Amino acid sequence: MITSATFDKADFTPKALICVDQSGIIDRVISATDSDYQSVKQAAINQDTLRIVHPGNYLLPGFTDLHIHAPQWPQAGLALDKPLNEWLNTYTFPLEAKFKDLAYAKKVYKSLIKELLANGTTTGLFFGSLDTKANLVLAKICAEYGQRAFIGRVNMDNPKQTPDYYRDSSAAQGLLETEKFIQEMFDLQKQTSAQLTPVITPRFVPSCTPETLKGLGQLAKKYDLPIQSHCSESIWEDGFAQENFQKRDAQVLDSFGLLTDKAVMAHGTLLNDSDLKLFSNRKTALAHCPISNVYFGNQVAPIKKAHEQRVKVGLGTDISGGFSPSIYKNMQQAIMSSQILKDQTNLNSRLTASNAFYLATIGGAEALHVKTGQIKPGYQADLQIVSDSFKEVSSNRSQDIFERLIYHTNKENILQVYVSGKLVHNNLGEKNGK
Ligand code: GUN
Ligand code: FE
Repeated sequence: MITSATFDKADFTPKALICVDQSGIIDRVISATDSDYQSVKQAAINQDTLRIVHPGNYLLPGFTDLHIHAPQWPQAGLALDKPLNEWLNTYTFPLEAKFKDLAYAKKVYKSLIKELLANGTTTGLFFGSLDTKANLVLAKICAEYGQRAFIGRVNMDNPKQTPDYYRDSSAAQGLLETEKFIQEMFDLQKQTSAQLTPVITPRFVPSCTPETLKGLGQLAKKYDLPIQSHCSESIWEDGFAQENFQKRDAQVLDSFGLLTDKAVMAHGTLLNDSDLKLFSNRKTALAHCPISNVYFGNQVAPIKKAHEQRVKVGLGTDISGGFSPSIYKNMQQAIMSSQILKDQTNLNSRLTASNAFYLATIGGAEALHVKTGQIKPGYQADLQIVSDSFKEVSSNRSQDIFERLIYHTNKENILQVYVSGKLVHNNLGEKNGK
């Protein structure tokens, strides 16, 4: 098994026995040299509960996608040559508005959730759309397929920045609808006992009136909920904050109580040192979306610096600002982009495979305050079994195996995925991995 030990180091333990209790939590991790290794293994064989990870395959924690727009799945990879504002108005808002059609929502969301699980994503922090019923369709599909999900009903009501056909009619109406969504999510959680959490979701500062931003800050506090939004993604967005509030984008969000220790802000490509300090003081997390940032971000996000300033950072696909649903692909892009970040400390901006793995596992989990992302006692058994396609031709040093898994794992190599000990994706057919 491989699990992230620190930001700089992944731990590799061959032949470990991972014991998972009835509720899907890791009970013990027993290494081959422990005295009761053989007896625990034999007991599991006798009870027919032993699952073997065969040689050349590896057990990893499941990943967290810390920023994804569920209704944008049908346009993943489309129109990415356009600037952000044009892309939103011409392609994205018309698409998201279509989710009033619940049959369409169901079809799209089934396809998306299956795809995420197949790619090893066990937890997702989702932007939904404005339509409460469509967001509940997403929540039910997550419950049905076993996806651990944080879901937000999007708020946007600024008539100058949003179209007539896709906007809350007033701040009050949007806030009322959001409160209804929160209640319905709580009900669904009780009925299904699925791991579903509602999230306060102002789209971003330009889309919202000050009344909405203020009201959402209050709702987050009232229900003690996570918050998600976009922050300092583009020059245009930063310019909007400056022009309309005479403040940095992060300061605007903070002034409405939206930077909390349960808040996750996407992109942050243009965050400066004082913004990072603010994030760090508020314990607000950053969702790094490296593929999307290539298209819309205007700069490479300063991730190493954010981490050094004790800002929590995880990885997001930003479907469909990013085209790929794979966190593996985003780990690769995070590493690649960091090589070309030209800041004063140039070489020091570089991320390693171990750093990217930390962001995809521990970073995302810490941002959402969930006990996932590590193969350790007390953590949820959110796991993936992946195969090493280079095992015949390359070295078997543990660090080499780890790096090739980060760079070469595709959907085809992801054999099984578990959430809280429950099999949610099986690429092994009938054998069921025994
Ligand atoms: N800013 C506001 N909305 C969006 C969105 O849907 N995608 C991205 N990348 N940025 C945004
Ligand atoms: Fe986004």
